[in-house]
Amino acid sequence: MQPSQTYDTIVVGAGAAGLAHAAMSGRNGRRVLVLDHAKRPAEKVRISGGGRCNFTNLETRADRFLSQNPHFAKSALARYTPWDFISLMAAHGLTYTEKHKGQLFCDQKSGAIIHMLLDEAASVHAEIRLSTEVSAVHHRGGHYEVETSGGPVQATRLVMATGGLSIPKMGASGLAYDIARQFGHDIVETRAGLVPFTFSGELGEKFAAISGVATPVRASVSGASFDEDLLFTHRGLSGPAALQTSSYWQPGQALTLSLLTESDLTETLRTAKQTRPKQTLAKALEDLFPARLAALVAGLVPVSADMRLADLSHAAIDDLAAFTRAWTLTPMGTEGYRTAEVTVGGISTDGLDQRTMESRHVRGLYFIGECVDVTGWLGGYNFQWAWASAHAAAQAE
Ligand code: FDA
Repeated sequence: MQPSQTYDTIVVGAGAAGLAHAAMSGRNGRRVLVLDHAKRPAEKVRISGGGRCNFTNLETRADRFLSQNPHFAKSALARYTPWDFISLMAAHGLTYTEKHKGQLFCDQKSGAIIHMLLDEAASVHAEIRLSTEVSAVHHRGGHYEVETSGGPVQATRLVMATGGLSIPKMGASGLAYDIARQFGHDIVETRAGLVPFTFSGELGEKFAAISGVATPVRASVSGASFDEDLLFTHRGLSGPAALQTSSYWQPGQALTLSLLTESDLTETLRTAKQTRPKQTLAKALEDLFPARLAALVAGLVPVSADMRLADLSHAAIDDLAAFTRAWTLTPMGTEGYRTAEVTVGGISTDGLDQRTMESRHVRGLYFIGECVDVTGWLGGYNFQWAWASAHAAAQAE
């Protein structure tokens, strides 16, 4: 058997959180080894934000995260803010653009963020071993012994940063959950988050027929509401409005879509009925919605789209207005982990110290990033959690 190589910290997962932690931990004087089974590091950073990496959000606050303990993320987020990451980028000559609701994107694209993380790790001589499988972890005499395809390695600190289950074809695995269970941690049931909804039957066909149409809506489910764009697709509903609500959605639940958030259809149609009585309902709705959506909306209520406004009763106008204010519809499901941007749920925060991310069950074991039951909204929040939780664990004594 090969002798075990010894480090201060072993990080499993060379993704966003793992690479950030390697550099931060190394800066605190530790000898760090990073292991990853993938051929290339930080692949999710590479594909994030359409290749521009939405690396943080200026509106970062704990209430933008889902967790069974809504307070858990506060400490880490307060001690490593979006401005800390922006300063790091500035030191590497990277700039950013704010796009929408505090979302910051890297002007030099996501590859530049990966380079920065790798440069930072290299500057503290952190060793990164890719294409390396982890087969077992043992805790003996205050050390973690990690069995890998490249032989055993050991350290006094083991930091699990293997992320969640989304996009299995990119190498996502449940290793962090398995190690957590091994050391007595509970796992909050996981499900796909920030993921498109699927619809079947007649509604599914109607959505497919207008695939590619986008419109601003207010989408609500389980008390959460988002004013964002909705995109109709061949499989159902996508776009930020659908993705945001998907993280709060449970199978069988209905969504409510408000198609008009700025104006009221009752007023608009009553006025149009007086001023343009010969206009068809379908044409009048085209002033408010994209043409293909206008036809779909008219077809979903018991009035004919070809009806002239003059013939439309006040009751029919009221019904149509009520429908556009609160369209209630139940998805068949979601596209699942295959396309989900994140995993909701994960390692229960009950077993973790919120200041350090250290296990409360065993000393020297840490969980950071997406594997923890802390899931951000769409818009850079998940990377901010990766950086902040990595930092919290690096500051631990
Ligand atoms: P991450 O997934 O980054 O890294 C985990 C690492 O562990 C990977 O390198 C993996 O190979 C490795 N690993 C897994 N299992 C292993 C095993 N068994 N053995 C060894 N290594 C293993 N967020 C955001 O804030 N802004 C954005 O713009 C986007 N955009 C986006 C687009 C798409 C398409 C996706 C899928 C996701 C996003 N996200 C996002 C979410 C974001 O990418 C995600 O939350 C973070 O990458 C999580 O960082 P972690 O380091 O925890 O996991």
